[in-house]
Amino acid sequence: MRRPFVAGNWKMNMLADSSAQLAGELADKLPEGNVEVAVCPPFVYLTTVGNVIKQSKIKLGAQNVYFEPKGAFTGEISTAMLKDVGCEYVIIGHSERRHIFGESDELINAKVKSAIEAELKPILCVGEKLDQRDAGQTEKVIETQLAGGLVGLSADSLKNLVIAYEPVWAIGTGRTATPDQAQEVHQFIRSWLSGKFGDDFAENCVIQYGGSVKPGNAESLMSQADVDGALVGGASLKADDFIKIIGAAIKAKSA
Ligand code: 13P
Repeated sequence: MRRPFVAGNWKMNMLADSSAQLAGELADKLPEGNVEVAVCPPFVYLTTVGNVIKQSKIKLGAQNVYFEPKGAFTGEISTAMLKDVGCEYVIIGHSERRHIFGESDELINAKVKSAIEAELKPILCVGEKLDQRDAGQTEKVIETQLAGGLVGLSADSLKNLVIAYEPVWAIGTGRTATPDQAQEVHQFIRSWLSGKFGDDFAENCVIQYGGSVKPGNAESLMSQADVDGALVGGASLKADDFIKIIGAAIKAKSA
């Protein structure tokens, strides 16, 4: 059985005080239920947030990582550093990394491999742009990103892999994929995983949806059979909204 998983990607938002306050509110209000919850603050606040959520069930994740273990890589952060500050998850290949910072599938693959070696759980993001969707290329784009991001990795090594389907046109735009559109792509991802790594692997792999997930649409999205949770941007910055989305995950998956 797949455990629903809701993660908050804070992106480049918050300062030390607001990070600690948000994390504290989440820890206080976290609903009981069958759901995995993580927050991914900016690197510089990982320790602050980690200390606040230590006694709660909320897990800590990072928004990015570099694949080299150490050395002259100015401005980069290693897997060992993320482990050292208490991270369990790391987002890899977010569309903002791909499209603003030019990250390739090859680089993303190196990051996934280094995360796995360090026993960090990778949240691999995939998603098509609007012109690609309009041109009927959604599946081709997703397949290329999955195949490229997972080159050289076995089913065994990927048992902690999480995939986040985030259509680029739905991120930060207020425009969400309909539950049917999300389900269609999630089902495609699961069947691709099944072909590549086997049915058991595909059945157990958690696939989150991301892109303007809000309290008002979270339950209908996560009620879809292959939508196992959410990767939430803007709405994860407001404690009440994020808590409602977590509640929606519990409700959608217990029905
Ligand atoms: P929004 O929820 O703000 O659209 O962001 C989604 C996202 O990119 C999460 O990683």
